[in-house]
Amino acid sequence: MRVRKVQLTSFRNHAESSLEFTGGINFITGANAQGKTSILEALSYVCLTKSFLQQADATVPKFGGERFAVDAILETDKNIVNHVRVAFDGAAGKRYFLDSNEVRRSADVIGMFPIVVLSPGDFALTGGSPAERRKFADLVLSQVSRSYLEEVTEYRRALKQRNKILLDGKLSNAFDGDLLSAWTDALIAHGSKVMARREKFVNEFQDAFSASYRSLVDSGEVPGLRYEPSFRVETDIESDFRKAIRELGRAERARGATLAGPHRDDISFTLNGMPLKEFASQGQHKTFLVAMKMAEFGYIRGMLGETPAMLLDDVMTELDYSRATRVIQAVGTLGQAFVTATDMLSFDDKMLDARETKFHFVREGSVVYENA
Ligand SMILES: Nc1ncnc2c1ncn2[C@@H]1O[C@H](COP(=O)(O)OP(=O)(O)O)[C@@H](O)[C@H]1O
Ligand SMILES: [Mg+2]
Repeated sequence: MRVRKVQLTSFRNHAESSLEFTGGINFITGANAQGKTSILEALSYVCLTKSFLQQADATVPKFGGERFAVDAILETDKNIVNHVRVAFDGAAGKRYFLDSNEVRRSADVIGMFPIVVLSPGDFALTGGSPAERRKFADLVLSQVSRSYLEEVTEYRRALKQRNKILLDGKLSNAFDGDLLSAWTDALIAHGSKVMARREKFVNEFQDAFSASYRSLVDSGEVPGLRYEPSFRVETDIESDFRKAIRELGRAERARGATLAGPHRDDISFTLNGMPLKEFASQGQHKTFLVAMKMAEFGYIRGMLGETPAMLLDDVMTELDYSRATRVIQAVGTLGQAFVTATDMLSFDDKMLDARETKFHFVREGSVVYENA
């Protein structure tokens, strides 16, 4: 997939900005707070229907307004050209259009325009809480599988209902046993599917990940990923899930919350068998993260048969020079990339030779071209 053009209207500090991209590496440069990340965010809206930043749609309209729009021309690997428009209005909410037809369910565009994002927020992936790693698995899986997205959505609904019943019961000291058991069944049915998919994903992802890691590091370090469910799986997920919930019955009533299930999963990262979180250096954390993103790129491409575009926000400041160069080269030889940076000095000729490149200079919410 390639982004040919994008137009931001009243989008963060951009009043009206239009960019035309190369299918190679696009460098988006400019000083701090000029509107570089906002351009990547706009790409995320047209490709995934939402921002990759954890911020509400209502924060996006340019200060003083209530609306924003992003229009883009997206071309698939098979050269099918699509016009996508995302329009947000404080009153009507967000609407997504594909060639002028409204798409009502975001699941319907899943997998069409894949992207892989590496932004400063991702540095919490290896060292942060389990929630970061669940979010990673969910984001990758929901790009490659519509049914996964549906299962997760159903699971969250069951979890929310079940937690409410448990909490109400705790507060009033009267549990509605029938209602609770109905939601327990839904929780286990959807949760078991989510868990099975995550486990399969981690196993499949492992190989691509090890290969990426080896391409970044010359030493013999052996990285590992393991799916860590919140309860022991001995026979099969569904019956062990039921067993865990049964055993936790008293504790759940005392706490007023669901204590087992995929909302408590983790993925453990190891290096030579040792937990990354406790033993790895800063540099090893960074390498791990870059390898994860390169593997994500390969995994999504393999699953969908569509090449993702890579969005790299501020990697030059977050990674050291050699890692940043390797990731840009690796990705830039395969697909389209968007790389933001505050200064041009960080890009050397080696990197620029890799593919066709184009520079977009951002100043105060406008995009300027040298020879325009
Ligand atoms: N809704 C908004 N309206 C106007 N400006 C905004 C809005 N949201 C954020 N900004 C501002 O837009 C500027 C550009 O942000 P950003 O794209 O993150 O900059 P950069 O990545 O170039 O450092 C920042 O000063 C930010 O505070
Ligand atoms: Mg930025």
